[in-house]
Amino acid sequence: MTIPTRYQGGSASHVPVGCMGLGLMRFTWTQQPLLPDKEVFATLKTAADHGVTYWNSASFYGSQDPLSNIKLLGRFFAQYPEYTDKIRIGVKGGFHGIGDLSRTDCSEENLRFELGEIQKCLGSKKIDIYGPARKDISRSQEETMQTLHKLQQEGLFCHIGLSEVSGATVRVSHAVCPIATVEVEYNPFTLDIEHNDVLAACRELDIAIVAYSPLGWGFFTGATQGAAGEALQKSRAMFERFSGDNYGTNAALANQIAALASKHGYEPTELVLAWELQQYPKLIPIPGTTKTPNLLKNIRGAHVPLSPELAAEFRRLATDLSAQVAGGRYNAYLRHTLFR
Ligand SMILES: NC(=O)c1ccc[n+]([C@@H]2O[C@H](COP(=O)([O-])OP(=O)(O)OC[C@H]3O[C@@H](n4cnc5c(N)ncnc54)[C@H](OP(=O)(O)O)[C@@H]3O)[C@@H](O)[C@H]2O)c1
Repeated sequence: MTIPTRYQGGSASHVPVGCMGLGLMRFTWTQQPLLPDKEVFATLKTAADHGVTYWNSASFYGSQDPLSNIKLLGRFFAQYPEYTDKIRIGVKGGFHGIGDLSRTDCSEENLRFELGEIQKCLGSKKIDIYGPARKDISRSQEETMQTLHKLQQEGLFCHIGLSEVSGATVRVSHAVCPIATVEVEYNPFTLDIEHNDVLAACRELDIAIVAYSPLGWGFFTGATQGAAGEALQKSRAMFERFSGDNYGTNAALANQIAALASKHGYEPTELVLAWELQQYPKLIPIPGTTKTPNLLKNIRGAHVPLSPELAAEFRRLATDLSAQVAGGRYNAYLRHTLFR
């Protein structure tokens, strides 16, 4: 059974995509060694065949080669051209010279260069959504948007997507040129967009929200204990919510969601994704998984009928958890790049 569709915003408001997308980051970011293409492509095809048609990537999702996630997509569409028109890909970039994460650079020269390199990897597949992963504070947002609009008009990509921007930046940007998506973290530990004007701005301007890390970077998967928990903590130890004692505190908090899900006969992933989907008709969660069975579990979340009573119970719990979560988002070094 395919999942229902939703529409993005701005110039993409006529383009249907699956209500749930797929985050591709972990195929190439922390995964060492990389999984064989055959295994990855089986997961990608399963996603597409179930209507998970928005795939989220970036020009810097690779620890050895920043473009390795894009190259993976290029190989997929070369091998399975029949999926080219079915899938919408979102690509973030905007770092200097591709992959220099210490410096955003939304100059026309840099973005043009990056788009050219991405397109070389993608072959005949067009970039559907493109934009900077973080705001370039060395120039005005109006200038960044004018540059993006110019490159869009030239046909280098189809629609503009922003990431980790403030509500004010959404408003300023959309006034220059329509935005299709705003990508932000959203999960029961991180409800910030509900209070900081990002969700309000997107609602008002009819922009889709691409909800990243919807499973709390792995906290809301029910796999936080034992060997799986150790692996999860180790792989994210540089981030506050996973470091030291914070991990145990947060895993215990996340277990409350797992308990609520189990009480109602659901997996935590199903309940979390179903609840997130209910929060805004243009919200598209993009759970990241490298495994077909986990993808299928996530897809089930798009079919969960959430009663008003269960939604209210979940809301009360999420409100508590977001107030109690130990540690801030990311870490002190990276936090200043968020919601600008
Ligand atoms: N714009 C930004 O700044 C930004 C930042 C971070 C991420 N993102 C995007 O958001 C996407 C998702 O984020 P994320 O990967 O950080 O977090 P997430 O989706 O909240 O969680 C992913 C983790 O949960 C596991 N998982 C997923 N489904 C599962 C299931 N049904 N059962 C058990 N485990 C499951 C995955 O492991 P397995 O692979 O083993 O399933 C992975 O470790 C990324 O791929 C990326 O595209 C964007």
